[in-house]
Amino acid sequence: MTNDTSSPDTVETPILIERTAEECLMVIFGASGDLSKRKLIPALFDLHCAGALPPAFTIAGVGRTPFSNDAFREHLLDALKELKRISSADDGAWKEFAPRLHYITADPADQGQFQVIRDQLIAIDAEHRSSGNLLFYLATPPSLYEPIIRNIDATGLYAPRSSGSWVRIIIEKPFGVDLDSARRLNAAVLSVFTEDQVYRIDHYLGKETVQNLLVFRFANGIFEPIWNRNYVDNIQITAAETVGVEGRGGYYEEAGALRDMVQNHLLQVLALMAMEPPAMFDARQVRDEKQKVFQAMTPIPSTEVHRSTVRGQYTEGTSAGVRVPAYRAEKGVSPDSQTETYVALRVSIDNWRWAGVPFYIRSGKRMPERLTEVVVHFRQTPHRLFSVLDPRVSQNGIAIRIQPDEGISLRFISKIPGSSLHMRPVLMDFKYGTAFAGKLVEAYTRLLLDAVLGDQTLYARGDSVDTAWTYVTPILEGWKSNPSSRVAPYPAGTWGPAEADLLLQADGRTWRRL
Ligand code: BG6
Repeated sequence: MTNDTSSPDTVETPILIERTAEECLMVIFGASGDLSKRKLIPALFDLHCAGALPPAFTIAGVGRTPFSNDAFREHLLDALKELKRISSADDGAWKEFAPRLHYITADPADQGQFQVIRDQLIAIDAEHRSSGNLLFYLATPPSLYEPIIRNIDATGLYAPRSSGSWVRIIIEKPFGVDLDSARRLNAAVLSVFTEDQVYRIDHYLGKETVQNLLVFRFANGIFEPIWNRNYVDNIQITAAETVGVEGRGGYYEEAGALRDMVQNHLLQVLALMAMEPPAMFDARQVRDEKQKVFQAMTPIPSTEVHRSTVRGQYTEGTSAGVRVPAYRAEKGVSPDSQTETYVALRVSIDNWRWAGVPFYIRSGKRMPERLTEVVVHFRQTPHRLFSVLDPRVSQNGIAIRIQPDEGISLRFISKIPGSSLHMRPVLMDFKYGTAFAGKLVEAYTRLLLDAVLGDQTLYARGDSVDTAWTYVTPILEGWKSNPSSRVAPYPAGTWGPAEADLLLQADGRTWRRL
């Protein structure tokens, strides 16, 4: 096979995990929970199967649910079978992976019990020669984050044991529920760890397609000149899910779509779309540029929320042909809940590049389809040469599909072949599935490997979490206090409340039809 880099045709690039983790002991607090079995262990298993874990990479789960090492392994084996990663305990990769797993039954929020945890961790570390490197993962309910951090502090485990070793901590979302709580948590974390030890995870940043936003923008010369207010009319970011709250009613009641999806995932996507090119591709510079975007977002005062935001909640309806209950009838949800399962908002970025270009964000549960995408809508031509062309369909656009059917398509107008002048939009498509061989690396797999290798580029920095909450908190307050803002109902299985269309109509625009 020739290696013709000039050919734009399909490239046979197998998607590999080319890096190897460092030796370490990874400690998962909350290891008996859902996140651990659905995301973390499968990600570590993927790394193991790809040969990316050295022999001295050991995993210690900590939790109150009593498990022996064997029972813990059995529990995770069942989870991997359920996820169809393996078919039986005889699987060769599982047999090699299982001895890496240990379990400590203890309450990590309890100071006395943490001493025991510490002693056992030191023993596991010595047995497996993990070089003293420690990676903590907070996968517990957020109310336990601060007590666990205090206990890590009190037992001295926050400090590297030798000059060549390291200690890091990954903190799962939600990172606070508003500005005050996020600040308190940040202060607690930074009173024990230094910022370069702290990895605030946002799994959206680990998605292959989200990382590709930077490559698309900054490795191609043709887009940068048009990526600004002179050419862009508006940008729309959509994250639609078909699922409801999936048994997480208790959590979701306190969260809602704005906290659950927008404050973190979708504002991160927005920042990648809007940021300036960093001078270098490293954690500090990429995160500096993102932070500048967050700082430039025009605040939406509490009194103005009804003009720039819409919130909705699903009622009973039909999803994928099945009757599904209303949000208020879900387990753990109050029958008169005001929590939003849908949110739409207009974000303005007050800087030279984006002044006057609205970024519209929408996210909802129980939508007709699962899809996450970003669409850049370009301005109309300055002069309408073809009067037969309907201006409503003539807008150029770039649609970046984050999931599923990952890819990018460019929309432009073409003449319909024939003896008269008729035109219609056509698409130029790039699809990951056809352009690249192999499976996309899962977000958690990528992000865990980054943390073990000390790369913070795809993790959220403390100041940007703070700025994102500074933006979101007045909206939450406005929803509570402003009588003209209400939760609009929408039947499950539809694209959200009609009020979301009015939000764009007020600007003379429409949402991209999904
Ligand atoms: C999580 C939210 O962070 O992201 C969930 O808590 C949501 O409510 C999920 O369903 C969406 O992630 P993904 O990767 O499926 O788009």
